[in-house]
Amino acid sequence: MEKLVIEGGVPLKGNVRISGAKNAALPLMAATLLAPGEHVLRNVPDLRDTRTLLRLMGNMGVKSRREDDVLYIDSTNLEHAEAPYELVKTMRASVLVLGPLVARLGRARVSRPGGCAIGARPIDFHIMGLEHLGVRCTLEDGYVDAVVDSELTGNVVYFDIPSVTGTENLLMAAVLAKGQTVLKNAAREPEIENLIDMLNSMGAKISGRGSDKLIIDGVESLTPADATIIPDRIEAGTYLIAIAASGGCGTVTHCNPGHLPSLLEKLRHAGLLVTETEDSITIGFPDKEGDIERHISGVDIKTAPYPGYPTDLQAQFMALMTLSGGNSVIKETIFENRFMHVAELHRMGAQIKIDGRTALVSGLGLNSLDGAQVMATDLRASSSLVIAGLAARGRTEISRIYHLERGYENLIEKLTGLGARVWKEAE
Ligand code: EPZ
Repeated sequence: MEKLVIEGGVPLKGNVRISGAKNAALPLMAATLLAPGEHVLRNVPDLRDTRTLLRLMGNMGVKSRREDDVLYIDSTNLEHAEAPYELVKTMRASVLVLGPLVARLGRARVSRPGGCAIGARPIDFHIMGLEHLGVRCTLEDGYVDAVVDSELTGNVVYFDIPSVTGTENLLMAAVLAKGQTVLKNAAREPEIENLIDMLNSMGAKISGRGSDKLIIDGVESLTPADATIIPDRIEAGTYLIAIAASGGCGTVTHCNPGHLPSLLEKLRHAGLLVTETEDSITIGFPDKEGDIERHISGVDIKTAPYPGYPTDLQAQFMALMTLSGGNSVIKETIFENRFMHVAELHRMGAQIKIDGRTALVSGLGLNSLDGAQVMATDLRASSSLVIAGLAARGRTEISRIYHLERGYENLIEKLTGLGARVWKEAE
């Protein structure tokens, strides 16, 4: 096992290039199961999670190869419609094969993901939606057995909560269903728009892109895609926050500022200077009469479905708020257990009180944290510890960094490129 070591206290400077989005790559890769032939996906990040999904699809008979950030996926010989527990337990998003398998083969056997560090995360909406399209779903031995007895038929599906992968699974099932499906209170994340654009380029008929009401008119068949993965807005947000927390100034490139409306406003409220171009965001501190004023104000956030403040940037923003000069209230409304990073930030001297899904952060100012040995518990919690380690005095050691490798491509190279002192060591 490896750990990440950070010598903190270096203001980050320069440019960092953002990779393709993990949470877009996964559904777009699964969507290649819908049509035989070779699909081309561009700007695909090379991550533990994308490799896991390729292995899962490989077990089903799908051929794939990677050339730099381009994936060639051929699902002509798709035959085994099974997602085994061994793989699904390592990556919940494996559930995204359920919709396309049911649509293409009329059957699927997918392990239920089980518990997760950040919450129970059931898949009842996915199953409810498929049952509305005429799929018979049996839950046995920890698996969902989904079978289409007659034919997949369009219907109206209402989500109690706008589920991201729930919306994606139903979109991928409905594109080959007979008649029209209407998804109501659907999720509106940019990653879903990326999936809709790919499916429509394959011959699907989806309207309502960007809204919470999606209308899908089923078609007989689809053709292979040539699609590009959007930039990773969560990775971009993570680097912006890391640069600010280190007291530095820098630019994230190859990103889409339009996908981060709430974060950019919150960073401006915190007193940071944020400027945007079409595909880059620069962050730094205001220059007051020739003197850079490195001060961060306390700002409240409340996570919400897109375009609200993303839950996947909650932990990172909390790390920043521990370095502010004031108080901030952080409300987590999406997941019931997404404060696992707090106890680790306490070890670095942060002042945070938790009351249920609300955290009260008392900022102690820039350079107020001390390096320590801490433990990663999930993907985004671990990135908040990296941010705290970069800002802290002295040395921080983060164990269980496999969590980070699931969602951040070339993290050490990118941070070193910004001047950070960071490396891996065996535990
Ligand atoms: C997606 O997870 C993302 N994962 C998550 O990112 C992200 O945190 C989440 O959306 C919210 O933005 C991928 O896209 C692969 P949900 P998903 O279904 O789809 C409840 C990361 O760090 N719910 O939108 O699993 C659920 O428990 C990951 O990259 C049900 O009750 O999240 C939660 O409270 C972590 N029943 C809420 O809805 C269901 O059937 C939203 O979850 C489905 C969801």
